[in-house]
Amino acid sequence: MIYFDNSATTKPHPDIIDTFVKVNEQYYANPASIHAAGMEANGLLDRARSQVAQIFNTDEKSVIFTAGGTESNNFAIFGVSKANTHIGKHIITSEIEHASTLEAVKSLEKEGFEIDYLHVDEAGVISLEELKQKIRKDTVFVSIMHVNNEIGAIQPIEEAAKIIHANSRAIFHVDAVQSFGKLPIIFNGDHGPDIITVSGHKIHALKGSGVIVFRRKMNIVPLILGGGQEFGLRSGTVAVPQAVAFAKAARIAIENLPSTQSKYKKWKCDLMKFLTSFGEYIHLLSTDSGANHILSFSVKDLKGEILINALQELGIIVSTSSACSSKQMKTSHVVTALNINPKFKNGVIRLSFGAFNTDEEINQFKESFKKVMKDLKGVN
Ligand SMILES: Cc1ncc(COP(=O)(O)O)c(C=O)c1O
Repeated sequence: MIYFDNSATTKPHPDIIDTFVKVNEQYYANPASIHAAGMEANGLLDRARSQVAQIFNTDEKSVIFTAGGTESNNFAIFGVSKANTHIGKHIITSEIEHASTLEAVKSLEKEGFEIDYLHVDEAGVISLEELKQKIRKDTVFVSIMHVNNEIGAIQPIEEAAKIIHANSRAIFHVDAVQSFGKLPIIFNGDHGPDIITVSGHKIHALKGSGVIVFRRKMNIVPLILGGGQEFGLRSGTVAVPQAVAFAKAARIAIENLPSTQSKYKKWKCDLMKFLTSFGEYIHLLSTDSGANHILSFSVKDLKGEILINALQELGIIVSTSSACSSKQMKTSHVVTALNINPKFKNGVIRLSFGAFNTDEEINQFKESFKKVMKDLKGVN
């Protein structure tokens, strides 16, 4: 099987699985216990936290381990907006955020917050001009994703941060679930977001792991109450094996970033050229300026599911625009926002690369795709 659905989830790295198993076997004590075994587990947890803090250029107390991207995004949005209503109740986000952001802000709207959505252009990029117009003195929270999970559009985070910080007291959150390990995300000072969220299973760690990282002190309401773990912000016995595995995956992702970037760039350029050769039959939703690990395109007058099944029969796994929207069998909010020709709306396919893909697999995709186009569309 050739797996090109790494933006939905990745195969865990064998070294990460080894680490996870080893920590479970040897360091299973509760890290909050005061006996020697608990302290040993806590030592490992501290080390993992400090590695993550170093990667994000922040201090250890600003790193909270969570169960993934959805929880981290919910925590950022609920925990910080609700704790800072003295600034105001106005929130800005974009119309192409992940559901874990959109559903969270919709829920806050029911509680009296006012939500403004930034539009995107045909490349899926927000307008800084619109951000400037929408930001207000009572804007408390801005949430903009770094890389879009369906088409790979990269948002101008540093420029957005400058505008937000120069014009308001709002806290700026960046969902970096799709960018961490694929793009540098060390934004600093005025050029940086205040909160970054990352998920483990998108970087070859395990499902059910992630972090929320704070880049400055702020008021936060805990999302989960209980025994006061994670500095009182996320109660519950900490999953030490998950945290250690996440920190290791994050380190590997950063170490490999230069080679990952050039590999994915080569593949995306190659496939964009290949797909363009089908002329009017193909519409590319991803652009040259987007992230290199996501390639989204559509075949004219063809349902995405049909294409997915045809490729699957040839041993190639791709997805429709996102795993979440594909089960609901409806055009995703991202594709809708891009306003593409209706003939291409139902045939959107996403290829997303991961650490285990190879040049050979890219070539096999090309061969298989040619066959599918011939069989389904009669195109030679
Ligand atoms: C941009 C983005 N944010 C958040 C999430 C949610 O992450 P998780 O699956 O870890 O809850 C995803 C998952 O697809 C994503 O792509």
